[in-house]
Parts: sequence; C-alpha cells; structure tokens
Amino acid sequence: MDISQLDTPALIVDLDILESNIEEMQKRIDKLGLILRPHTKAHKIPAIAHMQIRSGAQGICTSKLGEAEVMAKGGIKDILITTPIAGSTKIQRLVNLHLNFPDCQFIQVIDHMYHVTEIAKVAIEAGVSIQLMIEVESGQQRCGVEVGNELVELIEHINQHEGVTYAGIQAYSGHLQHVKGYENRHVQARAAVVGLFNFIESTLKPKGLEPEIISGGGTGTFSAYQGLNYSEMQAGSYLFMDAAYCAIGDEFNPMQNKQFKTALKVVSTIISKPKSNRVVSDAGMKCLSIDLGMPVVDGDSSIRYQTGGDEHGILHLSEDSRRLEIGQQIVFIPSHCDTTLNNFDILYAVRDGKVLERWSIEGRGRSD
Ligand SMILES: Cc1ncc(COP(=O)(O)O)c(C=O)c1O
Repeated sequence: MDISQLDTPALIVDLDILESNIEEMQKRIDKLGLILRPHTKAHKIPAIAHMQIRSGAQGICTSKLGEAEVMAKGGIKDILITTPIAGSTKIQRLVNLHLNFPDCQFIQVIDHMYHVTEIAKVAIEAGVSIQLMIEVESGQQRCGVEVGNELVELIEHINQHEGVTYAGIQAYSGHLQHVKGYENRHVQARAAVVGLFNFIESTLKPKGLEPEIISGGGTGTFSAYQGLNYSEMQAGSYLFMDAAYCAIGDEFNPMQNKQFKTALKVVSTIISKPKSNRVVSDAGMKCLSIDLGMPVVDGDSSIRYQTGGDEHGILHLSEDSRRLEIGQQIVFIPSHCDTTLNNFDILYAVRDGKVLERWSIEGRGRSD
C-alpha cells in the first residue's frame, strides 16, 4: 500500500530513519563505554524493542508495570520499570511477572522503605526474589530519595530484607532533557548528579554499599556524563525525534539537533477550507499531542498549526505556503512523540513511501 492510500489520521514511522537512529545511538553509547537500556515508553511496541536489542541494547526500560507486562509477553528478557509502584494490586502484579516470566530479569524502581517492606512481604510468600533499584533526587523534585543518610538507610533496609535485593541507583533528570544549547544542557545535567557520585565515593563505597548499576540519562543528556560513573543510559525519544527534541541543539548547532532524524509522523487530510489562507485538517489533539507545543508541518515551515480542539487542526497559510485543498493529505511532525504515539492503536512502518508493516501499539494506554 502507498502512504497516500492510508485513511487518516494515521501514525507512520520511516523505517530507514528508525533503523539509522537505532544504529546511531548504539554507536554513540558504545563510544562512551556505556550500556544502552532504551526507554520504550516512546514506542510501546515489542518488535521495536527487539530491533534495539539486536542492535546492541542490553535490555529496556518501561515506565509502568502495564508496559512491562506487554514487553515480557513480547519476549523481552531484561526490563527495568522506572516508576515506583504502590498498593497491593500493583505489588501482586509485579510478583506475578516474576512467576509468569521466570527467564526474564525485572528490576523495579523504588524510593521509600514502604516499597521495600511491602514488596518483600509478597515476594517471600510467592518464593521469588525481586531486584530493586533506588531512584535518587536528581534535580527534578519528582520521585527520588535525597542523596545522604536517607539513601544509606534505604539501601540497608533492602539488604536486611529477604525477598528483595539491591540492584543499583536510578538518577534521571527529566527536567533537563530539553534545555536549549548542548553546552548549557550538559553543564546543568552534570551539576544535577555530581553530588550523587561524590557521595558514592565518600560514603557508599567505604560501607560496601556501592551500586552495581547506575542508570539514567535521556536523549538530551546521554552524552553529558563523561567521567561520572553511570553504567547505562535510558534514552528513548532518539528513536523518533519529535519537533521539541529537534529544537534543543546538538554539538554543532545550539538551536537544532541533527544527531538523529525525524522518523515519526502523522498523516492527515485537509477537511475544510473556510478561507484561502486558513484550512482545517483532521488531526486535532486527540491524535497530535500539544503538551510540548504545536506540531510542525513536514516540509513547509511557513504553515502554522493552531489547535482546533480534539479533532481539528487549524492551519494558517502565508503567501509562501504551498497551496492546500480539501481532500489533500498533509504530514505533521509531532511536537512530542510519546504522548502522540499513545493516541494511536496502529503504527504503520513505511519505506520509500510504501507501507511495509502494520504494528499494533501493544503498550498503548498501559499507564497502569
Ligand atoms: C525515567 C526515564 N528515563 C528515561 C526517559 C527517556 O528520555 P527521552 O525520551 O527523553 O530520551 C524517560 C522519559 O520520560 C524517563 O522518564
């Protein structure tokens, strides 16, 4: 099938670009001497996770248990769940993952003694051992235990319990991923975690509590930590590169990131033309998310997208813009890949304008 035959709005990914982004990130991470554990919250599709692993990634991250269930069922064997869980239903599901997929390694992120005590209780009853990774505060003031005595006590609390083991530390600074300018972003990223690495040297190591894994980093910061002792990077969005990430700057250009190319797009149709300089597309915010700004029209920056609500995208044309008529297709680059992808059931994989595969977005909506 040709892209022009897709009913719209339709989510597509360019396979050539996807493959080259996967290869490029693996190359960069290898060069840094690190392990790549890509975050799959961006794509939620086991087939893509397998592509990343075939290219050299040593496991994946998921945000939620629901996504981990999808990935384990899809045959992925090494999964870090990067968000703490709470409540007996969730803890039982975590234990069930261990029971149902005994040949898969799971690590669950936690940041409080509650998690340790409650998870250990259910794990012991079920006869499984659960690996826990401690999230530390890394500037975002989201989850994460403060670096200091609290961290030491939490590690010791894990070590004192049967049913759980201490796998390492997660230090992820989500708030810095989109800081403009490569240098500026890198300086801030290092400053946010340097205290942790000093504390590991000065306090954890002498006590024998040094973490085996130190996990963190994203598409904006994966190359910021040279000389610090991270073991693995969790970048995810590099795979698709949305408009927000294209604007953060790379090592050569403060305003543009060309390390990776835009692979994810939304094909839409012009459904109305109320005026010669204003047309309306069938892609509103129920398919193109706007939490990180407005989507961009692929190949024509003179057209401005304005949200028209759930189901409409209003397009303002200038004199330089290409002509758009009712019934014509238009292609958008999403501003935020994660929240756009989560609006679709299907991702069409395309090469040279032809649709080659129809991937079901199996982790879609699995925020549970
Ligand atoms: C804990 C964690 N690690 C890694 C990532 C991946 O970051 P990015 O998609 O910006 O590469 C995210 C994204 O939100 C995250 O929450």
